[in-house]
Amino acid sequence: AEVVIVKDADEGGALGAAVVARLVRQTPAAVLGLATGSTPLTMYRHLAVQLAGADLGQVRGFALDEYVGLPTGHPESYRAVIDREVVVPLGLDAGRIAVPNGKIETAEHAGRDYEAAIAAAGGVDLQILGIGTDGHIGFNEPGSSLASLTRVKTLAPQTRADNARFFESIDDVPMHCITQGIGTILRARHLVLLAFGASKAHALAAAVEGAVSSSVPASAIALHPHVTVIVDEAAAAELV
Ligand code: F6R
Repeated sequence: AEVVIVKDADEGGALGAAVVARLVRQTPAAVLGLATGSTPLTMYRHLAVQLAGADLGQVRGFALDEYVGLPTGHPESYRAVIDREVVVPLGLDAGRIAVPNGKIETAEHAGRDYEAAIAAAGGVDLQILGIGTDGHIGFNEPGSSLASLTRVKTLAPQTRADNARFFESIDDVPMHCITQGIGTILRARHLVLLAFGASKAHALAAAVEGAVSSSVPASAIALHPHVTVIVDEAAAAELV
């Protein structure tokens, strides 16, 4: 992977946005893989500025993951987050931006349907990734198969604790999610992994410098030929 160390999340967001903006200018019908969580927010903000005035009506997008069982329209559902943080600020066509279906009744089939939709779109051109403090990508927790496809998973206790900040209490964080698999992520043509802050330093070092192992799902990026890692100084602290 190409590792770029920047000062902070703002500079990293600007750089990540420049990579995405270049793709979208060259390929107006680009297919983006979209991460949620805190990490990509500076990137989405910079992207809205860098692409202001551009016609993004052909851009397609696929979110990485969704909680299972939140009511439709819940503000912390990833459908709502993607609409609020990405679709509206960038002026994308919401109908072209897919998020896995987290309805309990249909979650069982949603993985297969989502894989089919990604394939029908021609695959993901550029996948934006964050990294969990436990080394997850998407919601592929440690132990996930490196060949996994989109499916329902149980969130690790650490991830539920990490994400409790978005909910009233940890008890409100869903137990399950539907996530693109590591195999799904590896099919994207370019991976852009962002990591900001000291809490990511350990997982980031294991991902970038450790052995490829399902115990550190993000280490799977070593299997991909085109990866850009954008990391701030705090998250780079444990790189040798
Ligand atoms: C989000 C996702 C997760 C996050 C990770 C880091 O769609 O798939 O892997 O990227 O949990 O979360 P933040 O950015 O909130 O630290």
